[in-house]
Amino acid sequence: MNNEITDKLKAHTLLNHQILEKSIIEMIKRIQSEKDYIRLMQIFYSYFGGLESLIKAYINSEKLPDNLKRRKVGLVYNDILSLGGVVPKTLSKENLPLINNHFHAFGALYVLEGSTLGGSHIENILKIKYSIPESSLTFFRGYGQETVSMWNIFKVSLNELTMDENEVLQIISAADETFARFNQWINKNT
Ligand code: HEM
Repeated sequence: MNNEITDKLKAHTLLNHQILEKSIIEMIKRIQSEKDYIRLMQIFYSYFGGLESLIKAYINSEKLPDNLKRRKVGLVYNDILSLGGVVPKTLSKENLPLINNHFHAFGALYVLEGSTLGGSHIENILKIKYSIPESSLTFFRGYGQETVSMWNIFKVSLNELTMDENEVLQIISAADETFARFNQWINKNT
């Protein structure tokens, strides 16, 4: 199997993933109540929601055949409402990575899709430690049992894209910026 692009993405974003994972785990540890969980979801919603609208302009079912099946922020929107929270605005372009072609969009989507892998850990902690009902954890549950297979299918689509060296660099820098800006957004809110 050709893993050239996704291997490069993983290597180049490793550090920013680690930083992000650490700040999210700290945030989860500080959760004391449903209100704090709502706050965590609001942070995800505003960032992921903003990104999703930018990505949508460049990636459709033609570029990614199972696009419609993939997790969308509507889930976290409903999770927030199900706990009586207020759905915040999504972030505007100035606070998001630069996305002005489908290579940038795929770099950002790599981060969004990859977050389903960590999402199962988040879901378990919230369910077990804080008794958040399953019906309000749909976003972090992601694809449930299908999470690993959905991830593998996504990686195949990404590795099959036609691109030159410069376009590979565009995907990598967009992915890394997507991690970095999310880190900044979390720091601003905690
Ligand atoms: C508590 C928070 C998190 C934990 C514990 C966590 C943990 C993990 C784990 C265990 C993997 C799988 C590694 C592998 O199978 O090789 C992974 C991969 C990944 N995670 Fe996270 N993660 C967290 C948060 C996030 C968030 C918030 C994002 C993005 C916004 C993210 C993006 C990714 C990406 C893109 C990958 C794929 C790496 C690759 O194999 O190319 N993670 N994470």
